[in-house]
Amino acid sequence: MSEKPLQNDRLLRAAKGLPVDRPPMWVMRQAGRYLPEYNATKGTRDFFEICRSPEIASTITLQPIERFQPLIDAAIIFSDILVVPQALGMTVEMVEKRGPVFPEPLRHPSDCEKLRKEVDVTKELGYVFEAIKETRRKLDGRVPLFGFVGAPWTLMAYMIEGGGSKMFTEIKRWIFAWPEESKALLQQITDVVIEFLARQVEAGAQIVQVFDSWAGELAPHDFAVFSLPYLRQISSRLPARLAELGLDRVPMTVFAKGAWYALDDLCDSGYDCVGLDWTHDPAEACRIARGRVTLQGNLDPNTLYGGREAITKGVERMVGGFKEAKGRYIVNLGHGITPGVNPDDLKWFFEEVVRVGTEVYKEF
Ligand code: CP3
Repeated sequence: MSEKPLQNDRLLRAAKGLPVDRPPMWVMRQAGRYLPEYNATKGTRDFFEICRSPEIASTITLQPIERFQPLIDAAIIFSDILVVPQALGMTVEMVEKRGPVFPEPLRHPSDCEKLRKEVDVTKELGYVFEAIKETRRKLDGRVPLFGFVGAPWTLMAYMIEGGGSKMFTEIKRWIFAWPEESKALLQQITDVVIEFLARQVEAGAQIVQVFDSWAGELAPHDFAVFSLPYLRQISSRLPARLAELGLDRVPMTVFAKGAWYALDDLCDSGYDCVGLDWTHDPAEACRIARGRVTLQGNLDPNTLYGGREAITKGVERMVGGFKEAKGRYIVNLGHGITPGVNPDDLKWFFEEVVRVGTEVYKEF
């Protein structure tokens, strides 16, 4: 079965700065627990078992696309950022109501001996590439597919903290007590992440996003040392690796949650798109970006609990504010959608973006 050419290229066009009729949109975690069909498919199955099943992962990836068609302009492969620590040899469990748990986190640089020195990405993460291929077949050109990875800083933080954290004591101990060892670990993760992204593109990912979910835990000068250099390596080395594999470059997005202070630097870090959380004022972000990148974001996800009027107000403020990006803009929430949201309220959000966005974009 040969796949149809891409029918909706709105998101890829906006990512490249080409004109569009309205802002393209998708939401982080769009395939997840707020969808009854996700919960039905998941049942009692283990989360990572689903990630390793290309058939189930591709079915889940398509659920929001099908439910909200023709509103969503991109799919994102169902997987997790923590498959990379697993590929490095760590055990990660997804515990119901608690989130990810690493039974043996890295508590001292000597623990790094437990990590695999050479990671064969195809062997360890081949199931992600199979899921991407299967998803492309099922999408049949309806919308483009995002691949993704966790940023080196965020992955290192999980590997050291051993799961979610409020205090970040362990990871901060590492960067302040053992800065050189921290950099060596970040480099090791970066190398795997780049190869993993390249192979996702080879399998069919048409755009990629790097999630630095814990960037906001760092002071600006520490972000400049322990996160940004590795984000830059990804944006510079991935295109080179793709060229080696005989593949075309794809647009790249960086989402460094909480790193509002770094927006100017992120606009110069080699990415096509920069994702924003809700702590940015849209018009101010456009002024800082100065047309260097496509901005993505940024409604507070909890707005979706405020009812239709609040959602409309939020969409008008957001799309109106990003008008200054003159079309270099992708609609999203400022972080992932949460499990308690009513899918009909998300649908209302999408419909309001179409209404407001179409009106605003007439002026361009
Ligand atoms: O729809 C999509 O966005 C694609 C799939 C996706 C998941 N996780 C599925 C998932 C993506 C892109 C991620 C990224 C991810 N995973 C991030 C970065 C984005 C962010 O939220 O900051 C992070 C930090 C993780 C790590 C992770 N995975 C946590 C902290 C948790 C538990 C918290 C939670 O939301 O449940 C997960 C589990 C997870 N990843 C679920 C899903 C659908 C829930 C699993 C379940 O069904 O119980």
